[in-house]
Amino acid sequence: MIAVPTGRQGFPCDDVIVRSRKTVVRRKRMADAADEYAWRSDEELARFDASNPTRVPFPDYQRNWSFDMRFTDTAGRSFAVEDENGQHIGNIMYYNIDTLRQEAELGITIGDQQFWGQGYGSEAVRLLVEHLLARMGFQRIHLKTLTWNRRAQRCFEKAGFVECGQTERGGNMFILMELLQDWLPTPVDGGP
Ligand SMILES: CC(C)(COP(=O)(O)OP(=O)(O)OC[C@H]1O[C@@H](n2cnc3c(N)ncnc32)[C@H](O)[C@@H]1OP(=O)(O)O)[C@@H](O)C(=O)NCCC(=O)NCCS
Repeated sequence: MIAVPTGRQGFPCDDVIVRSRKTVVRRKRMADAADEYAWRSDEELARFDASNPTRVPFPDYQRNWSFDMRFTDTAGRSFAVEDENGQHIGNIMYYNIDTLRQEAELGITIGDQQFWGQGYGSEAVRLLVEHLLARMGFQRIHLKTLTWNRRAQRCFEKAGFVECGQTERGGNMFILMELLQDWLPTPVDGGP
């Protein structure tokens, strides 16, 4: 008899949102909270976001994380990134959703530095953006990144984003980038 997995902590087993040969974007699982806590506590990673590292104890972080996943819309907007071996290497999410303009902001962290510069970030961004534009009906995806964060800018350029302005927040300068619906490749057969 084949044992059908029922999922952990109420999270579905069939949890892949989009995938390519080497990168998977999937729904989050309870076990992801520990990795996220390590990344959110990391001072260097926080610097790339112009944010402060979290200082709350892990049990409190985990309790809030679990609440958000179960009772808010976070689970539908915030996903885990895995490499080709199923290792959880980062997170990707969309937020600041403008339903009228059909726009959303995108954010990503590849938390484990040993995976930087190998194409996982741009691949995950490209996969999620295609999903949002082609299947979810968004017209524009935008993001901001610190002017000195050249790796992130190159990652977003590779995924199709173009610079569309600059802004200042909290004494930091950010480059604004966007990707529009008409960026989607035309289907070979002429498509629907
Ligand atoms: C930014 C981030 C998501 C990119 O993911 P990644 O997997 O490292 O990105 P990719 O490998 O797909 O692309 C990175 C590109 O930047 C290039 N790059 C790396 N360092 C660079 C630098 N100092 N200057 C210019 N380009 C650089 C890489 O060579 C690569 O380009 P290439 O493939 O043309 O050679 C990831 O590095 C990360 O999470 N960094 C820390 C947190 C962060 O910056 N988050 C984004 C906040 S907006």
